[in-house]
Formats: sequence, C-alpha cells, structure tokens
Amino acid sequence: MALLSRRTVEISHVKIAVSGKGGVGKTLIAAGLACAFVDKGFKTIAIDADSSPNLALTLNLTPEEARQIVPISENKKLVESKTDTGFSGVYRLSFKVDDIVREYSVKTPFGVNLIVMGTVKSMGSGCTCPENAVVRALLRHLVVERDEAVVLDTEAGVEHLGRGTARHVDTLLIVADANMKSLEIAKHIHELASGSSIKRVYLVGNKVGDKAQEETIRNFARENGLKILVFIPFDRTVVEMEMRGETPLKDRDSEAVRAIEGLATLLTARNDQQEVKAERVMREGGKQL
Ligand SMILES: Nc1ncnc2c1ncn2[C@@H]1O[C@H](COP(=O)(O)OP(=O)(O)OP(=O)(O)O)[C@@H](O)[C@H]1O
Ligand SMILES: [Mg+2]
Repeated sequence: MALLSRRTVEISHVKIAVSGKGGVGKTLIAAGLACAFVDKGFKTIAIDADSSPNLALTLNLTPEEARQIVPISENKKLVESKTDTGFSGVYRLSFKVDDIVREYSVKTPFGVNLIVMGTVKSMGSGCTCPENAVVRALLRHLVVERDEAVVLDTEAGVEHLGRGTARHVDTLLIVADANMKSLEIAKHIHELASGSSIKRVYLVGNKVGDKAQEETIRNFARENGLKILVFIPFDRTVVEMEMRGETPLKDRDSEAVRAIEGLATLLTARNDQQEVKAERVMREGGKQL
C-alpha cells in the first residue's frame, strides 16, 4: 500500500474509537486499522480500553508477552507517583503524562505501539479516584495533544460512552453484524454519540456472509439514520487463524483484513477527491475498496 506523508492528512482525523456489541469484531477491526495506519506511514498508538483486554494478541504479541503487560489503571506505583500528595484522600489532578507513553507503551511486531488502560470507571461523571485521573489525563493527551494516529478499542456495549472514554476522538466506528441485537446496540450507541462532540459517527457492517445479511444491515441503517462506512465480509481464514492461535492480521490476503485496510484508506482520505470517493462508498455501503 502506498506510503502517505503524515503531513498530508489532518492528524485529528485519525483519532478513532471502535465500539459495538460484544463479539462483533471490534478488536480485530481496531488492530487491523492500527496496522494499516502504520503501513501508511503514521506513527500509531492502539489503546486497549476494554476491562478484559486482548488487543495485544491481535497485534501479534505472544500470550506470555500479553500477560506481562500491567494495565495503567492497575499499576499502583505509577498511579501513586502521579497523584500522591502525601495527604490521605487528597489527590493531585494535574501532572505530566507524556513519560507514561514513553515508558508504558509496548512496541508490537507490526509496528503499532500498544497501551493497555485497564478498567475505567465513570469518567464522564467526574469521578476523582486516582486511577481514573491518570487514565483520563492519558487518554486526553493521546487523543488531543499528540501527533500520532490513535485507535481506541472500547469495551462491549454502551457504557464506555457514559464513562467518557471516547470523548475526544474525531471518529466513532460502531461495529455491528446482521444480528438484530448487535444492530439495536449500534443504534443505542449512535443515539448517545449524537449528543456528544464526536464529529464523525459511522456504522461498520462486519461478518457479512451474504446479500441477505448485507440488506438487513443496510435496511436497519436506513431506518435509523446510521451512515454505513463499509461492509467487511465474513472470512473463514480469520476463523481458521484464530483456531490456530494466530492473529488473523498475519494474513494480509484475507478478504476481511483487506476490507479493514480499505476502511483505513477511507478514514485517511487526503483530499476532496478522496473524500468524494469515500462519501460515495459510504452512501453505497459497498465493498468496492
Ligand atoms: N469478518 C470476520 N470474519 C470472520 N470472523 C471474524 C470477523 N471479524 C471478527 N471475527 C472473529 O470474531 C471473533 C470476535 O471478534 P473480536 O474479538 O474482534 O470481537 P470484539 O467485538 O472485540 O469482542 P469483545 O466484545 O469480546 O471484545 C474473533 O474470533 C474474530 O476473529
Ligand atoms: Mg474486543
């Protein structure tokens, strides 16, 4: 895939959160996008904001390497070093976090830097427990202040929106398959996101096995005002790779992985012409990537 100059894409457009019902493919899509951004020449950080993190394996770390990662919110020493004031019950809320990125992000084999956040409790409600203060500051720093592509893999369901985990991102992808339950959750996430500051909210149809499934997703999206960005096919190669304990992202010829790379191309459209093409694909919800 052609290398893009980082300067030609407005970096704020490459701050992406991936959401949706459990098991719809959020982690595969988040990891696939992060790898595709690296291929396009972006320095890229993938954030695992799921309380049962498994983005590391999809980014091709071994289970042993993944197990060694201590999530930020569970790293008591780190949290204390940032927030401790010496007075019990009184926490510092303002501190530097750029060193956390340097010291606690893990370089993965595909070139993506990974940060595992751990459990995040009600960030939106202004909870001031010290772990949240660190995670909140770090998320803000990663998404707002840094000149890197960011992909945030969120926890299943709608709660993360209430927590404000994805608050600063530019683009929210809602992943759904043709299962009505996943579509209903997609609708709920869309409603919640409409009241937020996130500018671009799109539906991504995943595990699409046939025309009937594609139509189900298309009709639901039309009836509920959701914009479809792309359909990713159901891909047996992905299932087989997972059965062997390998990340599906190793197989760049897999149809699903290619569709995710295409999605990354849409999300990094550099100019009007590409935007127009992206808009057309969005409208048609096609696989013509
Ligand atoms: N397009 C696809 N074709 C076939 N299998 C897929 C596809 N997308 C995802 N999968 C598989 O579906 C399973 C669930 O995917 P994934 O773990 O990415 O979902 P998730 O939404 O992150 O789940 P969770 O909510 O548990 O974090 C995985 O085994 C994954 O490999
Ligand atoms: Mg996941």
